[in-house]
Amino acid sequence: MTPSPLIKLQDVSYTYPGATEPVLDRVVLALRKGQHLGLIGPNGCGKTTLFHVVMGLLKPNTGMLSFKGTELRKAQDFKKLRQEIGLLFQDADDQLFSPTVLEDVAFGPLNLGASPAEARKMAIQTLSDLGLAELEKRVTHQLSGGEKKLVSLATILAMQPKALLLDEPTNNLDPATRARLIKILTGLDLAYVIISHDWDFLAETSQDILVMDQGRVTECHKSCLHDHRHAHPYGRHPHQHSDGKGKDHPA
Ligand SMILES: Nc1ncnc2c1ncn2[C@@H]1O[C@H](COP(=O)(O)OP(=O)(O)O)[C@@H](O)[C@H]1O
Ligand SMILES: [Mg+2]
Repeated sequence: MTPSPLIKLQDVSYTYPGATEPVLDRVVLALRKGQHLGLIGPNGCGKTTLFHVVMGLLKPNTGMLSFKGTELRKAQDFKKLRQEIGLLFQDADDQLFSPTVLEDVAFGPLNLGASPAEARKMAIQTLSDLGLAELEKRVTHQLSGGEKKLVSLATILAMQPKALLLDEPTNNLDPATRARLIKILTGLDLAYVIISHDWDFLAETSQDILVMDQGRVTECHKSCLHDHRHAHPYGRHPHQHSDGKGKDHPA
């Protein structure tokens, strides 16, 4: 028997109070163990809202959400889900609030019941696993945008989640940090959904792509992922592009 999806949405609709049109219109979605999904769609189509509904930050008007086969009804059910599903906020400043990086990363485990010593140990381990050990003592609000994004990811991973919801994780990342994020994500044994406008990033990190438009979510075959346009000083000359897997392709 196939195990129940980690997260399942059946005909979930949501309208912001006072709005006339629903932002989510009968959304159907399933995230299974180990599955890597990309979610693309125009600005304002409801992607962030969808993540907030899954996390229980917004309550759908109709439809059903379930977590590991159990319907989510009460606030307490969503609390359990939040212990196992990590949301990386679109804006890292919504995620980080402690004075130092180590305190921020230790906060989650502490909140889940770890002792201060255990939480500290888990935070140090997570930062080290992500190659961020040198940031431990840094003042969180003084980090660069890219560092904040990676530390935000560390705050989630320190809680040892079963799945991640990543909201536009590559926004404002320089190419090196973006490459580092790809390496981290593809090395994780976790299910995730990534919202992104970055087609190349999704091609490298996701098996399946979902498209959101006007409140509806539909599947898109990965072969439709081809929007690679670029300009650089060598554009007019024969040159090669790496596919990120060590292979070069003619431009
Ligand atoms: N708190 C809110 N109250 C009312 N409308 C909102 C609120 N947050 C977002 N919206 C509206 O809902 C729509 C979807 O927003 P959002 O989910 O943030 O889109 P996306 O992440 O796809 O860019 C937008 O039209 C946005 O203006
Ligand atoms: Mg958004």
